[in-house]
Amino acid sequence: MASQPKTALITGAASGIGRHYAELYAQSNIPVAALDINKNGLESLAAQYPSITAFPVDMTDSLAVEKAVTAALKTLTSVDRVINAAAIMPCGDILSQDTADILKIMEINYGGLVNLTKAVLPSMINQGHGQYVVFSSMLGVMPTLKTGAYSASKFATSVFVEVLAQENIDSGVQFACVCPPAVNTPLLDQVRDTQWPKIMDETPIITIEDVTEAIETGLKKGRFWIYPGKTTYMGSLMRRLFPSAVWKHIQKVEQKA
Ligand SMILES: NC(=O)c1ccc[n+]([C@@H]2O[C@H](COP(=O)([O-])OP(=O)(O)OC[C@H]3O[C@@H](n4cnc5c(N)ncnc54)[C@H](O)[C@@H]3O)[C@@H](O)[C@H]2O)c1
Repeated sequence: MASQPKTALITGAASGIGRHYAELYAQSNIPVAALDINKNGLESLAAQYPSITAFPVDMTDSLAVEKAVTAALKTLTSVDRVINAAAIMPCGDILSQDTADILKIMEINYGGLVNLTKAVLPSMINQGHGQYVVFSSMLGVMPTLKTGAYSASKFATSVFVEVLAQENIDSGVQFACVCPPAVNTPLLDQVRDTQWPKIMDETPIITIEDVTEAIETGLKKGRFWIYPGKTTYMGSLMRRLFPSAVWKHIQKVEQKA
């Protein structure tokens, strides 16, 4: 790994990318505060690695997040790297998704980040260093059909962390917004169980290692936007420069039998 933090606080640590990062750090004896709503998943992780402490918490509950972060700060003394990975991804046409489900996606994916930021970032700014790594998505820079609710939560995430980085540009904290395409994790089961957008078949599903490598390289090079995957950056450029052409293509792909 390119850069090793002294301590890490990871949300979404019970599964997928968050869990992988927690395990990587634990293997180097880096103390990790692992936050997730999945208590059993966290406990199985912490049972395997003594340097991981589990903090079961629902990221949508601002008071509970504040308490968990306060307890994590006591355990870690200070937080050197944050990885905000907690999210959900049920998909579907906006009109076919329940209003409550659409709002829940926003509450977890975006609201969770807001709660975490309020709870932990001031301590990192006070200490004058650290890395604040936030997971958006390719869908947080390029929307498509059937992912409107998820995309909206990830666009909100991208803008939130972009402004946060600019507002704290001289704080000594490094910010990064990670925008992966589809990654081989349990999150994709939520897409399969709801509505899988056909456009997602156009690019290969990448591995968790592809994501962590891109993050480490991006952080080392001081990049704010990190696009894991070979064609992700190009896709984001196409969307910015030729949005109508991109939508035309998406409509064509989605209409294919
Ligand atoms: N896997 C992909 O294809 C993909 C692509 C682009 C971006 N991302 C982003 O990467 C990040 C990590 O995703 P992943 O693929 O590892 O997903 P994952 O489903 O494997 O892990 C997400 C974790 O978040 C936790 N979580 C869900 N709701 C929570 C809540 N209310 N409070 C606390 N924890 C909660 C889950 O329990 C789970 O452990 C997410 O932000 C996701 O949006 C993933």
